[in-house]
Amino acid sequence: MSSVQLAAVILAAGQGKRMKSKLPKVLHSLAGKPMIKHVLTLCQDLGAEPIVSVVGHGAELVQKTLEPDQVKFAMQKQQLGTGHALSCAAAQLAKFSGNLLLLCGDTPLLKLSSLRELLKHHQSSQAGITVLTAKMPDPTGYGRIIRCSEGVTKIVEEKDATSGEKAITEINTGIYLFKAPEVFEHLKQLGNNNAQGEYYLTDIIAAARGAGTRVEALILDQAEEAMGINDRIQLAEAETTMRKRINERHQSAGVTLVDPSATYIEMDVTIEADTVIYPNVHLRGQTKIGCNCIIEPGVVVTDCVIGDGVHLKPGSVLSESLVGNDCTIGPMAHLRPGTELSGNNKLGNFVETKKATFGKRSQASHLTYIGDSSVGENVNIGCGTITCNYDGVNKYRTTIEDDVFVGSDTQFIAPVTIGRGSLIAAGSTITKDVPADALAIARTEQKNIEGWAARNRLKKAKKKEQ
Ligand code: UD1
Ligand code: CA
Repeated sequence: MSSVQLAAVILAAGQGKRMKSKLPKVLHSLAGKPMIKHVLTLCQDLGAEPIVSVVGHGAELVQKTLEPDQVKFAMQKQQLGTGHALSCAAAQLAKFSGNLLLLCGDTPLLKLSSLRELLKHHQSSQAGITVLTAKMPDPTGYGRIIRCSEGVTKIVEEKDATSGEKAITEINTGIYLFKAPEVFEHLKQLGNNNAQGEYYLTDIIAAARGAGTRVEALILDQAEEAMGINDRIQLAEAETTMRKRINERHQSAGVTLVDPSATYIEMDVTIEADTVIYPNVHLRGQTKIGCNCIIEPGVVVTDCVIGDGVHLKPGSVLSESLVGNDCTIGPMAHLRPGTELSGNNKLGNFVETKKATFGKRSQASHLTYIGDSSVGENVNIGCGTITCNYDGVNKYRTTIEDDVFVGSDTQFIAPVTIGRGSLIAAGSTITKDVPADALAIARTEQKNIEGWAARNRLKKAKKKEQ
C-alpha cells in the first residue's frame, strides 16, 4: 500500500467480567476460533509487523493460544484501563516510527476492507490519530463521539456521559490508527478521574487535540462490524452475524444451503460448488468438501477431507478422516480419526471405523466396527462384523486383502490377516490367518434335538395347571 510501516497492538488483558467465565474473554470461541484469533488474522492480512498483544488476565492461556502465530507479548499486570494497556506495549515499540493500529481482542467482526479504508484515510489526511467510529441504532455501552465543527473533540464513555451525550448514536469502535511514537507521549497525559477510575485510551483524543495533533474519524459503513463482545448475549449475536457471512460466501460460490440459519460452518472450511447442505449440519476445523456432495441433516464433520460426489446421510459423525470420491456414509455412521476411504465405498448405518483404510469399492453396510485395520479393494464386510483390536493393554491390526467376502457376525481377533479372495463364513470367530481363496469357518457345529421344544412347552403347561 505505502512505504510507511504498520505495527499493531491488540488489547487483550481484560478479564471480561460480563462474560461470567473462568476463560479470558478473548478466548471465547466465534465460528470455531478464539475471538482474538479473528483479530490477529486481520493484523496479519494487513501485513502489520510487529504485532503486540497486551495480555494480563489469563495471560498464560492467551499466550499459549497465540504463540504459534509469532505474536509479541506485553504484560499488563493490573488492568488499569485501555490507555494504561496501550502504554504497556510502549517498550516493545520503542524503536518503531510508523503507523500503529490499535485493535481490541473483543471486536472480531471487523472486516479487512474496513481496516484498509481506515489506513487509507489516516495516510491521506496525515492525521496523528484516526479513530474508527460507527452509527449504532442502539449505542448503549459504547463510548460516544463528541464532534464540533472542526471534527472529533473527545470521546465520552457511557458511564461518564450526560443524558445529552448518551443520545449521540455515533460510537467509538475502539479501533484507532496512531502515529508512533507520538502516541506514547500523549498517553502520559491520561488521568483516571472518571466513573471507573481507569486510564481510558479514549481520553487520548482530547489530549492529542490539546497538543495540536490532527484527529480524524472514519465512520464504518456497516455498524455491525463494530460490535464489541462483552457478554454471552453479544457473543451469540456475533456468532449469528459471522455465520451469515460465512454461509453467504459459500452460497455465492455455488453451494446450496437448504436453511442457512441452521447451517454451522466454521471459518476455514472450504466447499466446492453444487454441494447441497441440509439443516443442522456442522462443518468444523480445517474440513474440505468437494463438489456435488449431499450432506444430510445432523451430520458433524471435523477436520476431514471429503471428495466429490460424496453422500453423507443423516446423523453421521466424521473426524480427522479422508473420504474419497463417490462414497456413501451413514445414516448414523461414525468415522473416527485415521479413517481413509479410497473411493466408491459404502459405510452404512451404525458402522464405526478408526485408523482404518479401505481400498476402492469396499463396503460395510450395517452394524460394524473396523479399527486398526487395512481393508483392500472390493471387500464386502457383512452385518455385525467386529475387529477385536484391543486386549485391554495393546492394540493389534487386522488386514483384509482384496476381494474378501466377510459373512455377517464375524469377529476378527487381531492380529490377523485375511488372504485375498477368501470367504469368511457367517458367525465365525477368526483367530488365525486365512490363506488366499480359502473358506474360513470357525463356529461350533449345529446340533438339532428333535421334538425338544414341543416337550418343553408341554412340561411348562403342566406346571401351570398344578
Ligand atoms: C471500550 C472503549 C469504548 C468503546 C468500546 C468498543 C475505552 C475506555 N472504552 O469500552 O469507548 O466504545 O471499547 O468496543 O477504551 N483491556 C485491557 N486492559 C485493561 C482494560 C481493557 O487490555 O486494563 C482490553 C480488554 O481485554 C478488551 C479491550 O481492552 O479487549 C476493551 O476493553 P473493554 O473493557 O471491553 O472496553 P469497553 O468497556 O467495551
Ligand atoms: Ca468491549
